[in-house]
Amino acid sequence: MTAVAEARKMLTDRIQRIEVSATMAVVNEAEKLRASGIDLVDFGAGEPHYATPQHIKDAAILAIQQNFTKYTPVPGMAELRDAIAHRHSLDFNSDYKRDEVVASAGGKHALFNALQVLVDHGDEVILPVPYWVSYKDMIRYSGGEPVLVTAEEAHDFTFTAEMIERAITPRTKLIILNSPGNPSRAVISPEELTAIVRLAHKRGIYVISDECYVYLNFTGRRFSVGSLRDAKEHLIVIGSLSKTYAMTGWRSGFALAPAPIAAAMGKIQGQSTSCTTSIVQKAAVAALKGPQECVDHMLAEYVSLRDQVLEGLRTIPGLRCVKPQGAFYVYPNVSSFFGRSGLNSAADVAGRLLREAHVAVVPGEGFGTREHIRISYATSRKDLDRGVEQMRRFFAAV
Ligand SMILES: Cc1ncc(COP(=O)(O)O)c(C=O)c1O
Repeated sequence: MTAVAEARKMLTDRIQRIEVSATMAVVNEAEKLRASGIDLVDFGAGEPHYATPQHIKDAAILAIQQNFTKYTPVPGMAELRDAIAHRHSLDFNSDYKRDEVVASAGGKHALFNALQVLVDHGDEVILPVPYWVSYKDMIRYSGGEPVLVTAEEAHDFTFTAEMIERAITPRTKLIILNSPGNPSRAVISPEELTAIVRLAHKRGIYVISDECYVYLNFTGRRFSVGSLRDAKEHLIVIGSLSKTYAMTGWRSGFALAPAPIAAAMGKIQGQSTSCTTSIVQKAAVAALKGPQECVDHMLAEYVSLRDQVLEGLRTIPGLRCVKPQGAFYVYPNVSSFFGRSGLNSAADVAGRLLREAHVAVVPGEGFGTREHIRISYATSRKDLDRGVEQMRRFFAAV
C-alpha cells in the first residue's frame, strides 16, 4: 500500500472531506518568510490591529488574582449569558433569555456547534458566494451539502430573498447569512435580511446569521436579524467579541438560539471543549457591560482606513475595487492581470505578491471566487501606504 493510501485509510472520511483554511495557509506561509528575515506587510490576517481595551484586560487580571480559575457551566456562567443577552437587547432590540445563549470559544466555535446540531447527512445548506472560508468545510464536516448562490460583483455582492428562494429544494435545511460579510464586506439591507429570514421561517428552514461584524457596519443602519422576534424559532444568531472589542486571541463568541437548539449546542460543547476559559468569561462580561466608546472609536478608524486604502488602490491601473460598506476588507478584482507574466489565477497573484512584493493577501479561491484577492486593512496607516506602494510597483511590472 502507498503512503498516501495508508494515510487515507488512517483518517476518517469526514476529515478528508474538508480542507485547511485558506486564511490560515497564508498566515503560515507569511510566518515562514518572516522567520527568514523578510519584512512583510501583512494584509492577510482578518483581525483588528488594536490592542484589547484596558478595562477588559484588567477584568481578566483580576479574575486570575481572585482565583476565578475553575470550570464554569458549559454554556457559560450565568453572569456572562445574561450580559450577552442584555447587550444584544440594548443594541438590537432582541429579547433572548439566558437559556437561549451559549458562550463558545469564538464565533467560529459557535458556528461549528450550530452546524453539527442542525445539519445531517444529505441536508442542503444554502451558502451565498463569496463566503467566509470555513462555512463550506464546516457544512461538509457535518455531512451536509453546500448549495452555492453567487452574488454578483456588479450588484456589490449583495443578494436578495428571491435569489435565495430559487435555491430552495425539499432538502434545504438551512441558510447561512453573513452581513457585513467577509470577504465581500457587502452589507445586505435590513429589509432584504428581514425578507430572507421571514421566507425561511415560513418554509420551516433554519437561518444561521453570522454577525461577527455586526458592529462594523459603515452604513449607519446597524441591524441584527435577532431583532425579528416573530422568526426566532428558526433563527441562530452567531456573535463574536473578536472584532468588536479587538479580542481575537481571547476566543470569545456566542450563539443566540431557541432553547432546544441552544441545549443541543451545549451538549456537543460539553462533550468536546466544555466551558470557555473562566478568565476570558470575566473579560467578556467587562467588554459587554463596560463603556462602549471603544467600539465606536474603532469603527470610525476603520472607515478612515478604508478610505485611505481605496485611495491608494485607485492608483493601480487594472485593479477594480467596490467600496466596502462594512468589516475591514477590500476585495479587488485582479482578473485584468490574468494572462500577464504567468499570472492566471487569484492564487497566482497572491503567491507572487507574497514572494516578490512581500505583501500578504488572501486569494479569492478560498472564498469561492477566482478573480479577487482579499486585503485586510486593519493595520497601521504606515503599513497600509507601504503595502499599497509595493503592490503598485508589482502590478506595474507584470
Ligand atoms: C465571517 C466570520 N465569521 C466568524 C469568524 C470567527 O471569528 P472568531 O472565531 O474569532 O469569533 C470570522 C473570523 O475571521 C469571520 O470573518
